Amino acid sequence: MLPVLLGGPEKLLKNILKVSRKYENTLSKAWILDQLYVFPGNPEEIEAILTNPNMFNKAKLYNVASESILGDGLFTNRVFDEWKNNRKLVSAGFKFSMLKSFIPIFYEEAKFLSQVLYEKRDSNTNECEISCAIGMATMEMIGRTALGVKFNTQKNAKHEFLENLHFIQKAVEYRVTHPWFLNRSLFQLSTYKRKHDISQNKIYNFIDDLVQRKKKELRNRINSQGEHNEECMGLKCKSFIEIMLENEHQMSFNQLRDEIITTIIGGQDTTALTIACSIFMLAHHQDIQNKVLDELLTIFSTGDPDRPPTYEDLQKMDNLERVIKETLRHFPPFPLFGRNVEKETAIGGYLIPAGSSVIFCSGRIHFNANLYPEPEKFNPDHFLPEACRSRHPYSFLPFSGGYRNCIGMKYAMLQMKSVVSTLVRSYRFSPSDKCPKPENLRLTYAGTQAFVDGCYVKIEERM
Ligand code: HEM
Repeated sequence: MLPVLLGGPEKLLKNILKVSRKYENTLSKAWILDQLYVFPGNPEEIEAILTNPNMFNKAKLYNVASESILGDGLFTNRVFDEWKNNRKLVSAGFKFSMLKSFIPIFYEEAKFLSQVLYEKRDSNTNECEISCAIGMATMEMIGRTALGVKFNTQKNAKHEFLENLHFIQKAVEYRVTHPWFLNRSLFQLSTYKRKHDISQNKIYNFIDDLVQRKKKELRNRINSQGEHNEECMGLKCKSFIEIMLENEHQMSFNQLRDEIITTIIGGQDTTALTIACSIFMLAHHQDIQNKVLDELLTIFSTGDPDRPPTYEDLQKMDNLERVIKETLRHFPPFPLFGRNVEKETAIGGYLIPAGSSVIFCSGRIHFNANLYPEPEKFNPDHFLPEACRSRHPYSFLPFSGGYRNCIGMKYAMLQMKSVVSTLVRSYRFSPSDKCPKPENLRLTYAGTQAFVDGCYVKIEERM
């Protein structure tokens, strides 16, 4: 196991996949120092674990995220009753009517993004690095929908909250990639720790101020003007923070703060990576891009062809949805996630001892040829309805499953479809000379997947 871990963050996933292929379809295990790690090998075992209350808690590795900034938010919460109550309260922010009201914001920011990308491209070669600009756009979207705040990231404005959040994420990455700093006492000695604490305080203060202001707004029942009054295309919409404040008496301030930060972190890099990879794969598969475009032309053939998408339009984008799902199969933003085994439990004919960690490696399932024929091929038809019906539901794991599946899945799909469809309506994407084949795309792993040296495509305006 040691050579797998010591290959560095860029090789980690590939190494894990290589080793796990030797044990395809079966539960496997590895000891690292005194910790036992168990790796489920098929969808039946995965379902049994993710729906088992004895394995509700996240693996110990998540403590780093909890200590740094996520606190007791949904992602890292360890107390079942508290998690259950908070999940119910947070779910109110993901109701259909809320999500529908966010579509104009997604579209407005996607339009702005297409302008940014066009200006950013090299006008001689049409080459463009897309991942940074997409990251700025998804940050703006989550800022507006979760907090009701415009960070103006797409206009390159600096925002103290984001700078400090970025530093905290770097510190977590640093700890994950330098595993001796996973130990709390050793991390206390690192040069990162002091700056980490300062950033953490500034983030907490920002949320604190925002909550006070929002409370005042709610109390006065007035819609104040400016950055904290979200309005898009003439429609007013509430942000998550306002919804959570309406249930304020059921949550302490610290819980509210942790849920808000968790939502922002959970909802930004994940969709940014998927949007960038979807555009990259469309650039490398012109036939698939043409199919997506044809679908969009049909949808927008009624009414004004330049109109913003409605919820109904987004629901009709079946081809695009399959492209996004196939992208998530190839590039799951959370390629590894884990659970702690509270009580000895029998899974797949084996007894898993209490205290061990179960690690789910999505790639192990996503690249299993028994589940996905020609698994290395980028083929959105893997997600045709009949193909999905013939597979076990736990064969597709980008959003996890069971108790602690992703609460933002529907938000993410609406946002990603809004952005990718807006970009494809404006531009034709083709492979960049800087990254001529999909195999050249370099991704690394530090909790989530990230690009090593950006994501390049060529951009041409559609006539
Ligand atoms: C492509 C986009 C996304 C992917 C692939 C994704 C993936 C995941 C995964 C795999 C988990 C479970 C992790 C684990 O078991 O340890 C998770 C949980 C979570 N996600 Fe997402 N996510 C995405 C978008 C979002 C968005 C947009 C939001 C919020 C706006 C969000 C909020 C959360 C939260 C709060 C949890 C914790 C849920 C709980 O434990 O109750 N995610 N996500």
